[in-house]
Amino acid sequence: MRARDCSIPLATNKHLLRWVDKMRELTRPAAIHWVDGSQEEYAQLCDEMVESGTFLRLNEAAWPGCFYARSDPNDVARVEQRTFICSLSKDAAGPTNNWVNPYEMRTRLRKLFAGSMAGRTMYVLAYCMGPVESPTSQIGIQLTDSPYVVVNMRIMTRAGARVLHEIDRGGKRVVACLHSVGRPLSPGERDVPWPCNDEKYIVHFPETREIWSYGSGYGGNALLGKKCFGLRIASAMARDEGWMAEHMLILGFEDPHGEKTYVAAAFPSACGKTNLAMLIPPDGLKQWKVSTVGDDLAWIKPDPAGRLRAINPEAGFFGVAPGTSAKTNPNAMATIARNTIFTNVGLTPDGGVWWEGMTDEPPSECLDWRGRPWTPEIARTSGTTAAHPNSRFTAPAAQCPIIDADWESPDGVPISAFIFGGRRASTVPLVFEAFNWTAGVYAGATMGSETTAAAVGEVGKVRRDPMAMLPFCGYHMGDYFRHWITMQRSLSETPKIFHVNWFRRGANGGLLWPGYRENMRIMTWIVDRVRDRALARETPIGWMPRYEDIDWTGLPFARATFEELQAFDREAWKREVLDHERLFIDLHDRLPPEMVYERELLICRL
Ligand code: OXD
Ligand code: MN
Repeated sequence: MRARDCSIPLATNKHLLRWVDKMRELTRPAAIHWVDGSQEEYAQLCDEMVESGTFLRLNEAAWPGCFYARSDPNDVARVEQRTFICSLSKDAAGPTNNWVNPYEMRTRLRKLFAGSMAGRTMYVLAYCMGPVESPTSQIGIQLTDSPYVVVNMRIMTRAGARVLHEIDRGGKRVVACLHSVGRPLSPGERDVPWPCNDEKYIVHFPETREIWSYGSGYGGNALLGKKCFGLRIASAMARDEGWMAEHMLILGFEDPHGEKTYVAAAFPSACGKTNLAMLIPPDGLKQWKVSTVGDDLAWIKPDPAGRLRAINPEAGFFGVAPGTSAKTNPNAMATIARNTIFTNVGLTPDGGVWWEGMTDEPPSECLDWRGRPWTPEIARTSGTTAAHPNSRFTAPAAQCPIIDADWESPDGVPISAFIFGGRRASTVPLVFEAFNWTAGVYAGATMGSETTAAAVGEVGKVRRDPMAMLPFCGYHMGDYFRHWITMQRSLSETPKIFHVNWFRRGANGGLLWPGYRENMRIMTWIVDRVRDRALARETPIGWMPRYEDIDWTGLPFARATFEELQAFDREAWKREVLDHERLFIDLHDRLPPEMVYERELLICRL
């Protein structure tokens, strides 16, 4: 069979062809490649990257179809300081986003992108967020000079010719995304394995629904379907069109009677979303079945009957590797056993991968994420880790052993509860249920969490991260709260809202809750509350389970420890509410009155 000529457009849409041409003139690539999304093309791109040194093929017997990549040490996480929402007015972006006047930003970007793809191939990648036939899904086109991005996007989204056909058919507006690693090649210049630029720009134009990303090849900076489109642009679209784009996993629970309940849960980055999304019930709760719909994003819309339904707009998992093991998340380990791309983990001498927490015993030697020799002894003396704390796997969702039967249903799955959670060493109990929708929105809006390695910056500081959307909301956070409140008005059934904290510590500094599988005990209480069959007691912050309201079958868990986990510390909460005020002061001119009243009510109860 003759190889396809990749430079021939796979679409006929005139606007698309004109835009590709304009961007080609601006960025001046050496070649154009229209991505068809086929397995052959994927294999070919991977082969080319093995050849160029970007990829290493892992041991085929142990890790079939898997590849290994190391990024530049200066390109390892999302760059929030370099992320911009360039709406027409600064006020529309709000105080929690970086803003630059869009005209000024376009001038800056055009200079940066001029000739930025010289010597490289520009890939034209059409992708769909959500099942192609779903009315909730949306289409994007990413022009990129990174084949690493193309193969990752092929796992994370539905990509290629079938999406270009959708564009030709018309009907859906297309989000234009331009991405360059910002490292043009002069004639004859040898490429580096991970090209990038110290200067980075991740820019969103919400009114024109465009994304321009420059200088990084890593994760959410470069796989533009995920945070840039899936959350920042989509949240602005959702506000305008009456739906919700949330940083949430989606999870199904089938109870012992065979009744299914779906929940969506928001946690900040690197707080165990992928683990919760692939939960295996502990032995004592084996009559329950859990299934995964998504681990990071949820697009949620009311159906004609007024019930919220959610789709996972992604097709893959871009999960944090460290801490993932056969003990903590066997489903994730099964998911990533083949056809997976590993970035910035350790490389073992037999062509396998390793990261901290993957096995109890570390390998006696390996190469670390920078390619340097690593041994447990080196780790002890120098403190270096084999894997970068934000190292990742990119794996097809379809490979997850507990993927939900309806995960690609065009109509999505019905959502009965929302769960908010942060990483908090103190103050915040293991679980509580908000009194009602607005109290729940308040709990989500004031969510705090200790920062993690998913973003560049200090790790371990508590910051307010409303609905885990602080780095991802494409407009004014006050308007976002208002959108949450108004969404409920069109619903015939209001989901209940819960708050969890798996990370509370005791007086001796140790974690009080075992987490992982045991989280199922809290989830079954949540599902039973939704189904009106579990009890709770009232506290100033919401409804809380008593010890006897949790199913402890198979886990000898001390009542005293549970009480410590659930302890309501009035003085600590008074300080907590004062801290909420700081966020609210920043947002005051757009804060919906419901948030102010909820805070007043909480203060009165304290
Ligand atoms: C992610 C993140 O990569 O939230 O999912 O940072
Ligand atoms: Mn995330």
